[in-house]
Amino acid sequence: MKGETLIKSESKKKLIIIDDDEDLLKLLTYEFHSIGFDVISFTTGAAGLAFLLDEKNLKDMLLLILDRVLPDMDGLDILHQFEKKFPHKIPVLFLSILSSEDEVIKGLQGGAIDYITKPFSIFALMQKNHEPLGTMRALVTGGAGFIGSHLCDLLIARGFEVLVLDNLCSGTRLNLIDSPLVQFVQADVRQPEQINQLFEGIDSVFHLAGLVNVPLSLKAPCPYFETNFVGTFNVLEACRKAGVKRFLYAASCSCYGSEDPLPTTESDPIELDSPYAVTKYFAEQLVLNWTRLYGLPALCLRLFNVFGPRASLHGGYGGVIGVLIDEKRRNEPLTIVGDGKQTRDFVYVTDVAEAFYRAALSPLSGESFNVGTGRAHSIEEIVQLLHASRIEYLPSRPGEAKNSCADIRKIKDMLGWAPKVSLEEGIRALL
Ligand SMILES: NC(=O)c1ccc[n+]([C@@H]2O[C@H](COP(=O)([O-])OP(=O)(O)OC[C@H]3O[C@@H](n4cnc5c(N)ncnc54)[C@H](O)[C@@H]3O)[C@@H](O)[C@H]2O)c1
Repeated sequence: MKGETLIKSESKKKLIIIDDDEDLLKLLTYEFHSIGFDVISFTTGAAGLAFLLDEKNLKDMLLLILDRVLPDMDGLDILHQFEKKFPHKIPVLFLSILSSEDEVIKGLQGGAIDYITKPFSIFALMQKNHEPLGTMRALVTGGAGFIGSHLCDLLIARGFEVLVLDNLCSGTRLNLIDSPLVQFVQADVRQPEQINQLFEGIDSVFHLAGLVNVPLSLKAPCPYFETNFVGTFNVLEACRKAGVKRFLYAASCSCYGSEDPLPTTESDPIELDSPYAVTKYFAEQLVLNWTRLYGLPALCLRLFNVFGPRASLHGGYGGVIGVLIDEKRRNEPLTIVGDGKQTRDFVYVTDVAEAFYRAALSPLSGESFNVGTGRAHSIEEIVQLLHASRIEYLPSRPGEAKNSCADIRKIKDMLGWAPKVSLEEGIRALL
C-alpha cells in the first residue's frame, strides 16, 4: 500500500498522517474518522511529501501528523521542506516512539507544534483541543491472571497507570512486572465494600476477573455464579457510581452452540452448555444493559481459546496448549481429551491484549466482538506440532464444544484489529 487515501468523506476537517506502520494508520484513521475527520494517510515519506508540497492540497487541511522515523525519508526533512514552502500554515505534530530528547527539540525548532510519543495520546489530544494530556488510568480486574497480566504489560508499555484488582485465587503477583506505573490491590469482586473505593479517577476498567474452569463449573456452579455474574454486577455498579469513562469486558466464545455454522459470527444463535457459559454470557448481557440503561460506554470481547506464556495448567480446555507443553517438558505422554479431532480457534495472548487496548481507544459502545484468528486447529494437529512420541487418550468432558472458530470480520472492520501471531509462532515461543 503506497501513499493511498484510506478514508475519504465529505467532512470539512482534513487530517494528513504520514507513518509507515499500517496497523497504527488503520487505528488512527478509524479513530479520527469517527470524530468527523477526513483522513488522508501515506505510508511513505516520498508520497506524503509530494502531496504536501502541492498547494491545492492545503485547502481545509487542519493538521499534519508526521512520523519522525520513516524508512525512505527522515521525517525532519519532510517537516523542513513543508515549513519552508508554507511557513506555519498547518500545525504539525511529530509522532515517534523511538526518538531522543535532542530530536524532539530539533522537531520543535523545525516547526512542529508538539511531539507525541504514544498513539492513543494523539486521539485524546485532538478531543481535548490541544490541551496538555494527563496520564490515562486503567483498572484491570483479574490483572494477576494469565490474560490480565499480559494486558497490564501492554498498558504499561503504552504509558497507562495501572491498578490491578485481584483476589489471587488463581493469579499470582509474580505475573506482574515491577514498575512504578503498576499498583496492586488484593480484593474480591464478590465484595462491594472491598472494591467500591478503587474506581475513583479511573479512565478505563478492564474486567477480566473470573473463574474459568468449564468442567469444574458443572460440578460446583455456585462460585461461578457469584464470581462471574454477581462479581460483574458489583464491578459495573462501582464503575457507574465513580463515573468511569470506559468499560471493557472479557466475554467468552462458550456462548456459541455446537450446532452453529463455522466460523461463528456475533449474531449466531446462543447455546449455553455449562454454568461457566451461562455466567459469562449473562454477565455480558448485564454489561450491554448497563450501557443502554446508564450510558456506561462499554464493549465486550468474546475471547476464543487464548494461549501463551503464564496460561494456567488447570483451566480446562482453554489451557490445552500449556498442558501439552508442560507434559512434553516433563517427558510424560501427551494427553488428548476425547478423540483429538475437536478443533479450536487458538489466539495468542499478546494479540488479545492488543484487542482490549483497541477496544479501550474506540469511541464505539454497546457491541460484542469475537476475538480469535478465524482458523481452527485440531488437538491432534497441536500434538503433531509438538512432535509427541507417546500419546494417552482420556474420555471427553461434558460442556465442551466439538468445534469452534471465530468469524473476525466485525472486529477487523470496526476496531481495525487483526491477530499477528500464528499458532506455529506462538507454540515456538512457548517451547
Ligand atoms: N483463557 C481463555 O481462553 C479465555 C477464553 C474466554 C474468556 N476468558 C475470560 O478471560 C478472563 C481471564 O481469563 P484467564 O484465562 O486469564 O484466567 P485466569 O484464571 O488466569 O485469570 C483470572 C483472574 O481473576 C482472578 N479472580 C478470580 N476470582 C476473583 C474474584 N472473586 N475477585 C478478584 N479476582 C478474582 C484470579 O485470581 C485470576 O488472577 C476470564 O474472565 C475468562 O472468563 C478466557
